[in-house]
Amino acid sequence: MLSTFDAIRNDIAQRLADGATNRRSPIHTPVVATADADARVMVLRGFDPQSWTLRFHTDARSPKVAVIESDPRIGVLAYDKQAKLQLRLRGSGRIVTTGQAVDSAWSQSDNFARRCYLGSGPGEQSDQPTSGLPAEFEGVEPTDDQVIPARENFALLLVQIEEADWFSLAHTGHRRALFIGDEGRWISP
Ligand SMILES: Cc1cc2nc3c(=O)[nH]c(=O)nc-3n(C[C@H](O)[C@H](O)[C@H](O)COP(=O)(O)O)c2cc1C
Repeated sequence: MLSTFDAIRNDIAQRLADGATNRRSPIHTPVVATADADARVMVLRGFDPQSWTLRFHTDARSPKVAVIESDPRIGVLAYDKQAKLQLRLRGSGRIVTTGQAVDSAWSQSDNFARRCYLGSGPGEQSDQPTSGLPAEFEGVEPTDDQVIPARENFALLLVQIEEADWFSLAHTGHRRALFIGDEGRWISP
């Protein structure tokens, strides 16, 4: 059981870094909540340990984007069952659609991933069950040329973490630490 704030802050940072790169980590697919009391699973794509910023990829047309632009408060929730550890993060979200960071994330995606941004925007209604994809790309990887129009729908959601709540389950007594910025405090679980 970790017992110092330094060790726990390192533990949080390591779990987020691993969650961003390791598909098998339960932290790879946290729940991301917005200020409208909605929440959804997203893939954690990056963690910057210097600025404690999380990176997610999303569709610029998705309803969450407008919500975040009008109220940037974000909650991120993950539970690692094996480690018996809950991470509850709060922060400020920012949608980014242009610039080097977006170009770099786009260039690192393959055309199957880029294809998600080619069709109808998330939340669009349909008369029939739909993947939202143009019919010619169902089960087919588009070419570099075909995927060009998808780029304008691709956005980053960057979440600057302001509070981190670390909750460790144990028979001997649970432990919980809350960090507001760099400052840690113990709280009752
Ligand atoms: C396992 C899983 C991973 C997902 N990953 C993402 C993601 O990385 N980005 C994203 O925008 N939506 C992702 N989604 C879809 C969202 O949960 C959500 O349905 C979608 O973003 C609609 O957005 P809204 O919350 O704006 O309505 C994922 C869904 C699942 C089940």
